[in-house]
Amino acid sequence: MTNRFAVVLAAGKGTRMKSKLYKVLHPVCGKPMVQHVVDQLNTLELDQIITIVGHGAETVQDQLGDQTAYVVQEEQLGTGHAVRMADSYLEGKPGTTVVVCGDTPLLTSDTLNELMEQHESVQAKVTVLTTDITDPTGYGRVIRDGQGHVEKIVEEKDASSDEKSVKEINTGTYCFDNELLFESLKQVSNDNSQGEYYLPDVLEIAKNQGEKVAAFKTPNDEETIGVNDRVALANAERLLRDRINKEHMRAGVTIVDPQQTYIGPDVSIEADVIIEPGSVIKGETTIGADTVIGPHTELKDCQIGERTLIKQSVVTESHVGSDVQIGPFAHIRPDSYIQDEVKIGNFVEVKKTNMAKGSKASHLSYLGDAKLGKDVNVGCGVITVNYDGRKKHKTIIEDGAFIGCNANLIAPVRIEEGAYVAAGSTITKDVPEKALSIARSRQENKEGYVERLNKRS
Ligand code: UD1
Ligand code: CA
Repeated sequence: MTNRFAVVLAAGKGTRMKSKLYKVLHPVCGKPMVQHVVDQLNTLELDQIITIVGHGAETVQDQLGDQTAYVVQEEQLGTGHAVRMADSYLEGKPGTTVVVCGDTPLLTSDTLNELMEQHESVQAKVTVLTTDITDPTGYGRVIRDGQGHVEKIVEEKDASSDEKSVKEINTGTYCFDNELLFESLKQVSNDNSQGEYYLPDVLEIAKNQGEKVAAFKTPNDEETIGVNDRVALANAERLLRDRINKEHMRAGVTIVDPQQTYIGPDVSIEADVIIEPGSVIKGETTIGADTVIGPHTELKDCQIGERTLIKQSVVTESHVGSDVQIGPFAHIRPDSYIQDEVKIGNFVEVKKTNMAKGSKASHLSYLGDAKLGKDVNVGCGVITVNYDGRKKHKTIIEDGAFIGCNANLIAPVRIEEGAYVAAGSTITKDVPEKALSIARSRQENKEGYVERLNKRS
């Protein structure tokens, strides 16, 4: 089999984004653009991926880690110059090289596969991925000769008015014969209106040498969006959101209002889940069958079981079991483990806490660094006092314990199995099994007090 390589262009600062953040790190549906591109490339079983990064773009390397090799392009002298930077890895090697821009987050591996297959089957030396769009402003135009063969690509800024009227654009994605690519790049000049070394000039150079230059026109024009500014960013976000939501709906998920539902690309949802409007589901979240999310719920990196209900709440990096009810207005913070049949009601905050099956905290509580057994009842306003100003301490509440309203449990402390804590108690010592602990001052009623007070004045 032929060697297959990919070069990802990600060195441009993205002046038009007007941002501190490198352009390709701007997220679309919660994932940086360049990560979308590399994720698609990763499914293609390539021999090597090389990312061209700009000077000081460690952030891009931090994002992609060891998924690719890196070459630094110190000065951004154009896309042709950028690809040339990869010569230390690729020059002279036989094979096919795919070049993609880090700012095309909607490009799919299916389209890349089709592009490579056509390229290899017609034995072209260069194949450019093109598409027809109604408003081609800003893109390079594909110029064809009388027989419809690709002649060259002309950038908007160098195009004549005739050329500008062409609707077929260069998507910025290509397949090259690898050896020819690096030979031709040496001949690319910067004699154009932007003074840049244009990668698309390789087409004309190859053509003039009598090599076969082809185009693969995809009907999926939305895939080819190159994000250069924040208007395009929002557009890409909308299109990707739409694509993701439709995939889930086709797989049996009800999304009540897809325009107001934001699901990340790495979320997996089983059939018969209902997503109510205003919900944001991010990261590597999984949701089991018959669960209802929302309205207005945010989930990030969570595993949610079946038949669970989470409304108007925020759940982050936590596990939630089946038949659980959360919300409205609950906040489940990282490292929480909410087991089956648990109920967490309004204004309850849970952090780094394990609640075993059937436990309940229905109103206004803070449970932090705690471990609750089965069927524990946490009354309204209970607080685990986990922080002494320096360190966090654990609260352990064993099976079947009953914690009365407004109790403070000063950690470290253990409430043993079946014990009761009286409402309003401040518990500083362990409570033994099945005991009742009352830790509050006794009530004293002063009979006739108000009458006496009134007489005095
Ligand atoms: C480029 C194409 C254009 C095509 C469009 C598709 C050229 C000359 N033009 O234009 O024909 O229609 O993409 O979206 O290639 N980059 C570097 N180093 C550089 C310059 C750019 O790494 O020196 C990277 C950028 O980070 C970006 C990509 O290359 O990811 C494309 O660069 P950009 O400036 O966005 O090119 P366009 O003007 O959009
Ligand atoms: Ca671009």
